Amino acid sequence: MNMVLVSISNWTGFTPVMSLTEETMFLLVAVCSLMSAPVLTGPIADSSYVAAVYEHKVIVPPVSNVSRAEALQHIQKNLDIYEQQAAEAAKQGAQILVFPEYGLSGFYFDRSSVSSYLETIPDPQQENWNPCLEPGKYSNTEVLQRLSCMARSNNLYLVANMGDMQPCPLKTDPTSSCPPDGRWKFNTNVVFKSDGQLLARYHKYNLYKEPYFDVPPQPEIITFDTPFAGKFGTMICFDMFFHKPTGILLDKGVRQLVYPTAWVNFPPVLDSVQFHRGFSLGANVTVLSSNLRFDKEHIGGSGIYTPFPSTYHHATEGDPEEGKLVVARVPVLDPMWRGESTATEESTSPTAATSGACQHTPDPNPEIASSVPPSSDTFIVSLIDDPYTFVLLNKTEDDLKVCNGTFCCHLQYKRSPQAGSEELYALAAFSGTHTIVRTLNLQVCALVRCAGSDFTSCGQPVVKAESKIDFTLEGKFASKRVYPSVMTSKNVMEEPQNLEMAADGRVTMKHSNMSGGLISASLLGRPYQMDEECTGE
Ligand SMILES: *[C@@H]1O[C@H](CO)[C@@H](O)[C@H](O)[C@H]1NC(C)=O
Ligand SMILES: *[C@@H]1O[C@H](CO)[C@@H](O)[C@H](O)[C@H]1NC(C)=O
Ligand SMILES: *[C@@H]1O[C@H](CO)[C@@H](O)[C@H](O)[C@H]1NC(C)=O
Ligand SMILES: *[C@@H]1O[C@H](CO)[C@@H](O)[C@H](O)[C@H]1NC(C)=O
Ligand SMILES: *[C@@H]1O[C@H](CO)[C@@H](O)[C@H](O)[C@H]1NC(C)=O
Repeated sequence: MNMVLVSISNWTGFTPVMSLTEETMFLLVAVCSLMSAPVLTGPIADSSYVAAVYEHKVIVPPVSNVSRAEALQHIQKNLDIYEQQAAEAAKQGAQILVFPEYGLSGFYFDRSSVSSYLETIPDPQQENWNPCLEPGKYSNTEVLQRLSCMARSNNLYLVANMGDMQPCPLKTDPTSSCPPDGRWKFNTNVVFKSDGQLLARYHKYNLYKEPYFDVPPQPEIITFDTPFAGKFGTMICFDMFFHKPTGILLDKGVRQLVYPTAWVNFPPVLDSVQFHRGFSLGANVTVLSSNLRFDKEHIGGSGIYTPFPSTYHHATEGDPEEGKLVVARVPVLDPMWRGESTATEESTSPTAATSGACQHTPDPNPEIASSVPPSSDTFIVSLIDDPYTFVLLNKTEDDLKVCNGTFCCHLQYKRSPQAGSEELYALAAFSGTHTIVRTLNLQVCALVRCAGSDFTSCGQPVVKAESKIDFTLEGKFASKRVYPSVMTSKNVMEEPQNLEMAADGRVTMKHSNMSGGLISASLLGRPYQMDEECTGE
């Protein structure tokens, strides 16, 4: 039985170019129920496990500059909710449960005020510690103790995000410099075994406007093993965009990821479920993505995404602002656990033509071999400050091409005459450097519904649509990391009917017989090798 549970509605009153003002020092985090687990079956349903993610409506402290005792009192309020949800997840058979980034503390800190919320988390690679059983071993670890006991009493693997404070220099890196206030402060994932033992610790490498936290001196590639599904990797929010650590985890053949996030939605190309679903499909991995629910900052949308169907929750600002537990049975993908040989290691060899690693692709001409000339009726609209080149879909069916420099996107489409004929659609291409917060290179082909009847509305968020369009969308990317998505009315994700990702970087997505009206169909590529971390700038 293939089953997709969705629960959705509209983001409203939201413009794509959010005011990301530098002076809001606290700003944020990345672009940084009762039900039985639906079965997400695929070609392999012979081994599976039950996963859960909890979208948490975080209780944010009214005042951030408080004593440790007051901070703890505050964290306990969020932990109380975690505890109820862990019990509920266990009741539904969950073997692993993921909580979101910033779910315990909220945000709006500075470097001084964050300190009360931090604990010093021992390195599980150096020592075994079960905080629930040995609470006296380290002082000031109340949060770790409670999370550990939660994993233990519910007999599940538990992933949470919290702050870690480490003395400097770091034990693991004696040459590391020291932050000015003499302490390292890290945005951190912790993973507990089902007996409560601290199993893994990961420090976020790609911070998104979090001046109170430090970037660890080296990127950490953290994986952990489970008895029910083998190996999982972990990263946090904005990390998903980057080679370090995410591309490295993928190159190592890690197929299952636990992913606490606090993802700010930027439709029509960087909405949470859209990007995370696309990542899972494009990288052929499972992502257990737990997001916050925090409407004030447009944060929401969590899911269990597999290369097969997905289960997700995407509420909106009009809905009651509340938490949501998502549970699903998913297939095991770890090749070692499944007793398969790992060909993945081979494909990461430095000679791979379109490797996701820091290498240039040898093909200098990304032009699509198509007889269609690029359209000249183009216009530019910026999406989150990136100038996308657009062309309108004027006919009921056509063959269109739009280019940004040598990067071209090709669309063949046929609109259904049934409904939505007044709705305006456009095809967009973008190849360039996105510069908000961190520079990162993107290549995007997107077919979008324009928010209004004027071409200047193309690229603005829109929530509903009636038009059904059969299409083939194609681009040739300078990367093997390309994330495909089809988002329809009210943020419902559809699975592309056909997806081909060729070794030369050409990606072709075909879709027809849509169930809902089309909001956005996109191919988003991440040519890591063009980033400054690769070019050495
Ligand atoms: C918090 O308190 C410290 C020490 O009194 C002070 O330096 C800092 O500016 C305060 N931060 C905020 C956000 O009030
Ligand atoms: C994706 O993963 C599935 C399950 O492991 C595998 O059968 C399939 O061949 C993979 N697809 C690609 C394109 O690598
Ligand atoms: C679409 O129609 C507009 C307005 O009539 C026109 O300016 C534009 O050239 C047309 N574009 C294409 C690709 O045919
Ligand atoms: C992409 O389009 C933008 C906006 O027109 C332009 O500034 C940029 O140079 C283009 N990129 C390339 C590689 O031509
Ligand atoms: C789309 O639906 C039509 C009518 O139900 C059917 O004949 C056709 O085979 C379908 N196409 C695909 C690609 O599923």
